[in-house]
Amino acid sequence: METKDAILSRKSIRGYLAKPVPREVVRQILETALRAPSAENMQPWHIAAVTGAPLEGIRRDNVENVLSGAPAAKHPELPEAYQRRRVELAIELFGLMDIQREDKAKRKEWLLRGFRFFDAPVAIILSVSKSLRGETWPIHDIGALSQTICLAAEDLGLGTCIEAQGVLYTDVIRKHTGLPEDREPVIGIALGYPDPAFPANRLKSRRAEVDEVTVWAGF
Ligand SMILES: Cc1cc2nc3c(=O)[nH]c(=O)nc-3n(C[C@H](O)[C@H](O)[C@H](O)COP(=O)(O)O)c2cc1C
Repeated sequence: METKDAILSRKSIRGYLAKPVPREVVRQILETALRAPSAENMQPWHIAAVTGAPLEGIRRDNVENVLSGAPAAKHPELPEAYQRRRVELAIELFGLMDIQREDKAKRKEWLLRGFRFFDAPVAIILSVSKSLRGETWPIHDIGALSQTICLAAEDLGLGTCIEAQGVLYTDVIRKHTGLPEDREPVIGIALGYPDPAFPANRLKSRRAEVDEVTVWAGF
């Protein structure tokens, strides 16, 4: 697949086929993605590739936490432009999934779906050492790795959804992946074969135009 095609065809997949992803395929994706750049080549990331019983355990405990109202990180007050884009995304997703604003049951099920890693057969969890807390570059590097994982997966016909929800309950991730206390999960990625019939997978999310976000200097 051409680089540009992979970049343009990648999108967040929130519905997966119940088809396992062989360990060898996951390994191939990770091997490719680990070519992602990092500050001074420090490669500040650690990866957990999770499937089967440990992933079921994460789903179960995440859902239990949400249902019992266990506190999770909340979005701060956002500037208007960012808030508008968030709302736009939610409206489009809810529209595709036929979730009405007042339908609390369906909204909750959608929320739980995110905490279940969208029922994907694999979750990739990226973590960093707590010793790097407060530094900005590890977060940048994890971002570069995340997108590269998504593109490497796209190249093999697999879908992904980068997701913060799945790793919000740090203790759950520790319990089921053996993540040591001196590391913190930063982000999760759902991975699997996209379900072509799942409505939300049809979404091609919007982007601001180049000139809306770019200052041209010296051109
Ligand atoms: C850091 C990060 C965290 C995200 N967390 C979530 C999440 O918790 N739940 C979710 O449904 N999507 C999540 N997403 C996916 C974004 O909503 C998605 O990338 C964005 O809407 C653009 O759509 P696209 O990926 O289809 O191009 C996350 C993406 C990123 C980069």
